[in-house]
Amino acid sequence: MEKTLSGKTALVTGAASGIGKATALRLAQAGANVLVAELDAKGAAQTVAEIADAGGTARYLALDLCSGEAIDRCAQEALATPGGIGIVVNVAGWGYSQPFVQNTPDFWDRVMAINLNGPIRLTHRLVGPMFEARSGKVVNVASDAGRVGSLGETVYSAAKGGLIAFTKGLAREAARHGVNVNCVCPGPTDTPLYQAVPEKLRDAFVKAIPLRRIGQPQEVAEAILFFASAQSDYVTGQVLSVSGGLTMAG
Ligand SMILES: NC(=O)c1ccc[n+]([C@@H]2O[C@H](COP(=O)([O-])OP(=O)(O)OC[C@H]3O[C@@H](n4cnc5c(N)ncnc54)[C@H](O)[C@@H]3O)[C@@H](O)[C@H]2O)c1
Repeated sequence: MEKTLSGKTALVTGAASGIGKATALRLAQAGANVLVAELDAKGAAQTVAEIADAGGTARYLALDLCSGEAIDRCAQEALATPGGIGIVVNVAGWGYSQPFVQNTPDFWDRVMAINLNGPIRLTHRLVGPMFEARSGKVVNVASDAGRVGSLGETVYSAAKGGLIAFTKGLAREAARHGVNVNCVCPGPTDTPLYQAVPEKLRDAFVKAIPLRRIGQPQEVAEAILFFASAQSDYVTGQVLSVSGGLTMAG
């Protein structure tokens, strides 16, 4: 396996499970030192152990995207890494399907915190030193829900749409500092989050996906690796759906 990320440190949020875990393992395989930034300490320890078993290096950082203080502490610890942070991947996300009229303000505050405001605060803390180093990659994981909407996920769609727009805005500002910012939008992907989607809806998804199956977390991780590596040095502000063709946004 090519070690295209040797010498880089990558912070990956949500790396205890699903797409975040697959991303942490893939970036480590490509030679990156991985910081597993997570709410779930037990799951994160498992990811760190799997990376170590495969001959890579990784470390756990506590993170709760619903707490500004926790985000700041996580960023401070991350920035103390020798050589600094070269790659930030905002993968952690959360939500479940529910009619908008049944949503409570607590529910949508949590959805907005984990999917949009938390990633904004964490990125804000980490991107300044990247600007100074005149090098870096930020990859945000949004969702096709943020491009085309998703029934029963109204506020989640709003948060992910916000993350897509944040990607584009920051990409314009970061370009002059040598930092690329891009976004990956998974479609239905086989993870614990997806298992919470009602079965009827999951069946409907498979019928609607041109490639006739849901995605695997490793397939999303490959797209993230592309945006995290030098292979995408001339790509910024872009949104890539990894969704079996479910959405074909222009
Ligand atoms: N699985 C899908 O079908 C799908 C589709 C579109 C987009 N996505 C997006 O992909 C990303 C990963 O999703 P997944 O399916 O792998 O989910 P997952 O539930 O398997 O993993 C999400 C991870 O985020 C962590 N997390 C949750 N709340 C957190 C918090 N407050 N602070 C820090 N970490 C927290 C969890 O502990 C978990 O490890 C999310 O942003 C999700 O919205 C997933």
